[in-house]
Formats: sequence, C-alpha cells, structure tokens
Amino acid sequence: MSENELCIRVACTLDKCYTDTIVDHINKAASDPANGICKRKRELIEDKILSGESIIAFSDSGEWAGFCYLHTWENGMFVSSCGLVIADGWRSYGIAQLIKEAIVELVKNKYPDSRLFGLTTSSAVMKINSKLGYNPVTYAAVTIDPEFWQSCKTCSNFPILQSKEYKNCLCTAMLYQPNKM
Ligand SMILES: CC(C)(COP(=O)(O)OP(=O)(O)OC[C@H]1O[C@@H](n2cnc3c(N)ncnc32)[C@H](O)[C@@H]1OP(=O)(O)O)[C@@H](O)C(=O)NCCC(=O)NCCS
Repeated sequence: MSENELCIRVACTLDKCYTDTIVDHINKAASDPANGICKRKRELIEDKILSGESIIAFSDSGEWAGFCYLHTWENGMFVSSCGLVIADGWRSYGIAQLIKEAIVELVKNKYPDSRLFGLTTSSAVMKINSKLGYNPVTYAAVTIDPEFWQSCKTCSNFPILQSKEYKNCLCTAMLYQPNKM
C-alpha cells in the first residue's frame, strides 16, 4: 500500500461522522491487555477531530482506515501522540507508519518547540517510532503532568503503574529527538 493509494491528512469538521467508529476501535483494542492502549471518551475524540489535533487515514475507496491524535502537556513543553488505531481490515499495510510520519509533521508545524513522546507496549509502534528517530527513555524524561498519568486509568496495567509510583510500567516511553525537529 503506497501513500498515493491512501488519503492521510489532518482531520477536520467533515470527519466528525467517524467519531463513533474511531472510539469503538480504540475501546475494542483497549479491551485486549496485550495492546496497552487506553479507552477514550467520545467527547475527547470529537474535540481532537474538530480542533485539528489529529491525523485520519482513508483508503482509496474512502473507507476509514486509521487515526491518531495529539495532546499537549505542561503548557506545550511536551506533546504526546495518543490513541493510534488502525481499522481491523487495514492492518499491516504500513498505514500506522504513514500516520505517525504525519503526526511528526503536524507537531513540527504546530508545536515546533515541544518534545514529542509516546508510551507503548506495541512492538509495531516501537519499530515505527525508532524509524522516525524516537529513542527509548525513562518515564522521568517525559511529562510530569499528573493528568497525563491519570489518563492511563482505563489501561488494564494501571495498578502496575501505581505500584511503581508512576516511575515505570509495561509501556516503553519513547521521545522524539528535539534537535531533529
Ligand atoms: C499496532 C497498530 C497501530 C499497527 O498498525 P499497522 O498499520 O498494522 O502497522 P504498520 O503496517 O504500519 O507496521 C509498522 C511496522 O510494524 C510491524 N508490525 C505490524 N504489526 C505488528 C505486530 N502485530 N507485531 C509486530 N510487528 C508488527 C510491521 O511489520 C512494520 O514493520 P516493517 O516496517 O519493518 O515492515 C495496529 O495493529 C492497531 O491498531 N492495533 C490496535 C491498537 C494499538 O495497539 N495501538 C497502539 C497503541 S500504542
């Protein structure tokens, strides 16, 4: 699957109709502890679509294929990419890689002074992040904003995070190198 056969772009008002589909996919993926993705509320996803803070992907026939959004922390010192999900029938076509590339471009445009990071247990996402120039770091190197860590509440591994006093968990934290942005 090449970029030419897909439409990968910043989501806009017209994409509001995909909110339920995206939320359903995220929440279904979150029910499998192997994925390490948290459930998300409908209002949050809709807000990310309407505010130009997300990337959406469609197949050449216009079928929704994937999504990922941004969230800023500590007054923009950090930006996280969150909620990456690819539609069941569109996995392993390289769409997650293309969405994450678009996320990096969006951050460069909107938040050029921020540090981009993500937390993941997914080997696919670790591979993608490494290719993009992210490096694995300790949790101390990413945001200390308590709201970020509270957003892990719906993850099945949250008790582990709490028992480690928010210093470690099953997810690997990865930071995009700011000098490359
Ligand atoms: C994880 C997920 C986003 C990957 O999306 P995808 O579009 O299938 O990934 P890509 O096709 O872009 O693959 C990227 C790389 O990961 C590899 N990969 C894909 N799925 C993989 C898997 N299940 N296990 C290991 N590696 C995998 C691919 O081979 C590719 O590597 P390559 O470039 O060396 O060939 C998708 O499976 C998904 O939506 N999962 C449920 C939600 C989730 O777990 N999100 C991640 C939250 S951090």
